[in-house]
Parts: sequence; structure tokens; C-alpha cells
Amino acid sequence: MQTNSNPKPLKLPENVDAYNRIAKTALFIKSNEQKELKILTIHKDSMTSSHQNDQVIITGLLYLSITIPTIERHKNSHSNPSLSLPNMLSSDQTLYHYSLLTLYFITPLTFISLFFIQTPYGKHHRAGWGPTISPPLAWFLMESPTLWLTLLLFPFGLHRSNPKALILISPFLLHYTNRTCLYPLRLLKTTAAGKNSGFPVIIAMIAFGFNLLNAYLQAGWVSHYKDYDGDGWFWWRFGLGLGVFLVGMRVNIWADKMLVGLKRQGGGYKVPRGGLFELVSCPNYFGEIVEWLGWALMTGSWAGFGFFLFTCANLVPRARGNHEWYMEKFGEDYPKERKAVIPFVY
Ligand SMILES: NC(=O)c1ccc[n+]([C@@H]2O[C@H](COP(=O)([O-])OP(=O)(O)OC[C@H]3O[C@@H](n4cnc5c(N)ncnc54)[C@H](OP(=O)(O)O)[C@@H]3O)[C@@H](O)[C@H]2O)c1
Repeated sequence: MQTNSNPKPLKLPENVDAYNRIAKTALFIKSNEQKELKILTIHKDSMTSSHQNDQVIITGLLYLSITIPTIERHKNSHSNPSLSLPNMLSSDQTLYHYSLLTLYFITPLTFISLFFIQTPYGKHHRAGWGPTISPPLAWFLMESPTLWLTLLLFPFGLHRSNPKALILISPFLLHYTNRTCLYPLRLLKTTAAGKNSGFPVIIAMIAFGFNLLNAYLQAGWVSHYKDYDGDGWFWWRFGLGLGVFLVGMRVNIWADKMLVGLKRQGGGYKVPRGGLFELVSCPNYFGEIVEWLGWALMTGSWAGFGFFLFTCANLVPRARGNHEWYMEKFGEDYPKERKAVIPFVY
């Protein structure tokens, strides 16, 4: 790196742009290889340079930011291959970007295909989908990545000890503690009474795969990729999103409990009544959609918004299928004014 024989103090704001570029470069290095930061620590106060030298410094830093991580990664992969997985999970933006693209790719495909093929479990259970397992076990296994993968990835994130990140991930973990542990426990009581149809293993495996992808995306965003320092609206967005999320969660859990309660009574499917059931056939799906809308607001991220879209793509066609199933099964006894999933709309 070139030095100046007669250094002049860096003048701000004249060189603000150059300074920003250096700071950004340092951040880039920090987010890619934390280890390298110690080599390249920049002290704003002690920095002296002419404008020309700023360019040299910037070029040098950019060069180092590209070459050092590459050399380091190359070294690690030879000396200790086991380091490559945490490295990949904590710093590989390419994997993250492709995972995000996958989410946006499968969402329209899911939406279109589910309008033609109802996922074959519950009311739409039918033969020809291979071996089945009990629904409580299926729900526990297929939803479990949202807990264990999130908890496994979080400690590798840059923001692992940032209180904002810990607070932000809490609603996600709260929802999936209910879905993975409490909901299957409630279902167990209906299984004990021998009232459940089996859950196809293939469907559980597909859901398991989706939950791996989604947990990686959501946990990765909150623990690593989100820029907390640059988000001046964090608490506003979090407060608003959390309010929406909690309303959705309340509706979802209440409706699930009502339906499982009806099932536990025995005697087959019944027309659910009361509360939001007077407006829509599937208030549990409505609540779930509202929850992930709240999550999208809270995180302010493509990952969060993508999950919200995917939930709509998955649950709106299924709600339509359930609604038609109710009307066919109960005919005149089924309330005509009910919509499928969005009150007064659809
Ligand atoms: N985020 C997502 O993409 C996503 C995807 C799928 C599900 N979920 C959530 O997972 C939860 C469960 O979903 P699900 O599709 O299994 O819900 P569901 O079809 O409404 O079933 C919920 C439970 O209630 C029983 N049940 C439903 N309608 C009934 C009736 N009329 N009479 C008696 N019992 C009835 C079901 O028994 P049977 O199983 O025998 O029908 C099942 O045990 C929901 O909260 C949903 O929002 C989320």
C-alpha cells in the first residue's frame, strides 16, 4: 500500500464518499470473513491521506476483501474440511440467494398445482399415496426443522448476540413450538380414540423439505443477513408486525382447538359453528395467513414476504377445497353466507 510523505488529515465532508466506501468495504469484509477484520481495522481519527491516496487505499481494501477470504477458505478446506459447513452456513451468500430464489420459484408452482390436486391428508385423504403414519407423528417430524435448524443456525450468525435478533426470532419459535409440539399433543388424544386417517409419508417428507428451506431462510435472515444498525424503523415495524402476528396466532390456535375438539367428540366431521367460523370455512388457515403477514412486516425482508406468499399459495387452494367439500357433504345444512378463507372476500 502506498504511503504519503506529507500526509494531510482527511477532510470531511469533502471525502465523505471515499470514507463511506472504505467503511462499506470493511463491513463487506466483516460480513464475509470476520477473522480478516483485525488486519484491516480502520481508525477514522488516525486516517491521513490525500484524495488520490484514498483511491489507492480503497482499491487495496477491495482487492484484499476479495482475495483474503478466498485464500482463507481454500486453506480451511484443505487443513480442516469440517470447518466448511459452519463457514457455508454463516457466510455463504450464494447458498442463501439460491434458497430464496427457490422459495419464489416453488410458490407459484404450489399455488397452481394445489388448485388441481388437493394434498391427500385429513378431509382429502385418499388411497394411492403410499405408506402413511399417524398424523401427530407426521406433524411433529415434518415441522421439527423449524425448531432444531433455527436453533442450530442461530449461533453461527453475525447477530447471534444482538438483542434485536433474539427478540425478532422469538415469534417464529413461538409459532413453531405450538405447531411442532403442542398441536401434535392435542391430536394425540384424537388418535388414541382411533379417529384419525393416516398421513402419507411422501407428503410429510415434502413438508419436511420445505421446512428445512424455510427455517434456513428465516433464521439466516434474522441471525445473519439483516442490517440492524441501518434499520431505523426496526421497533416500529416490529411492534406493528408483532400485533398482526399475535392476532393471527390467536385466531389460528382458537380455530384449531375448535376443530380438534369436534373431532374428539367422535361421530365423524361436523359443521363447525361460532366465532369466525360463521364467516369462513377455514379460520385456522386465515389466522395462519395473518400470522405470516405480521412476520413479513416484522422482518421487512424478502424471506419473510416469500414465506407469507407461500403460505397463501398453500392454504388458499386448500381452503377452497375444504369449503367445496363442506358444501358437498352437508348440502343445504351448510351456511351459504360463509366464504372459504378471507372474511367477506373469498
Ligand atoms: N403454513 C402453512 O403453509 C401450513 C400448511 C398446512 C397447515 N398449516 C397449519 O396447520 C394446522 C393444521 O392444518 P390442517 O390442514 O390439518 O387443518 P384442518 O384440515 O382444518 O384439520 C385440523 C384438525 O381438525 C380436524 N377437523 C377439521 N375439520 C373438522 C370438522 N369439520 N369436524 C371434525 N374435525 C375436523 C382434522 O381432522 P382430519 O385430519 O381427520 O381431517 C384435524 O385433526 C392449521 O393451523 C394450518 O393453518 C399451515
